Amino acid sequence: MVVYFTGTGNSRYCAEFLADKLGDVCTDAFHYIRESVAAELTSDKPWVFVSPTYAWQLPRVFVRFIRGGWFGGSQDAYFVMTCGSEAGNPEPANRLLCRDKGLVYRGTAPIVMPENYIAMFDAPGPEEAGRIIRAARPALEQAAERIRAGQDFPTLRVTPADKLKSGLINRAFYRFQIKASPFTVSDACIGCGRCDTVCPLNNIILQDGRPVWGERCTHCMACICGCPTHAIEYGRISKGKPRYQCPPYQPDTHTK
Ligand SMILES: Cc1cc2nc3c(=O)[nH]c(=O)nc-3n(C[C@H](O)[C@H](O)[C@H](O)COP(=O)(O)O)c2cc1C
Repeated sequence: MVVYFTGTGNSRYCAEFLADKLGDVCTDAFHYIRESVAAELTSDKPWVFVSPTYAWQLPRVFVRFIRGGWFGGSQDAYFVMTCGSEAGNPEPANRLLCRDKGLVYRGTAPIVMPENYIAMFDAPGPEEAGRIIRAARPALEQAAERIRAGQDFPTLRVTPADKLKSGLINRAFYRFQIKASPFTVSDACIGCGRCDTVCPLNNIILQDGRPVWGERCTHCMACICGCPTHAIEYGRISKGKPRYQCPPYQPDTHTK
């Protein structure tokens, strides 16, 4: 079973791609995380956990979901981490997670997808995003091939800088960078509540028809990128930047 977490759709795209190629089913962690319900899932096929990379590791919210869940049947676990450029050194933590869950770690595959982190960087426009997504498909094919063949993903080559990013910098990032207080909403807000419904942490409530953010934000970018009127900003840094949403995965019936 392919189990995924996503903020702006890249990881859903990759999860659906993999499920399609593997003839497997896809499960969204969204409702489990949003409702704080422990997953109880069974699969005869390997577990494939797909998620974005947050500060060169799995998102903590996804790690909590896996730690709190029950995954029966197959003991094999693969990790597919979508990223804007590089996943750093996530293998030691992913291996530990598997050990703690009684799963057999089969490797981590980083997949470069469009950058979505507009609270720090720029996201590509639709054309460039399309190019990046098309370029990601061979790596996804390869990952599917290895899973199907029961092979491990290749071990990631890491540098001392990668270790620093996934270690100290990851911890500093969560401590200092991840907060909801810079989110603001402009008069373009139509009070549709989409920001609330797409928030995986159930961290947004509407007060007088306007979103108000609580303390549980994980910077997934679902609210700011999903707002239909571009009414949400993150301080000044998001101003004028394209909002990013991955297009839905379309199975390619000719190459299946
Ligand atoms: C909070 C946050 C942290 C991120 N950290 C990294 C990172 O360390 N390395 C990287 O290459 N991309 C990073 N990104 C980019 C995302 O991992 C990438 O765009 C991902 O495919 C988004 O997936 P999604 O659309 O499923 O949410 C980060 C994005 C966010 C929102």
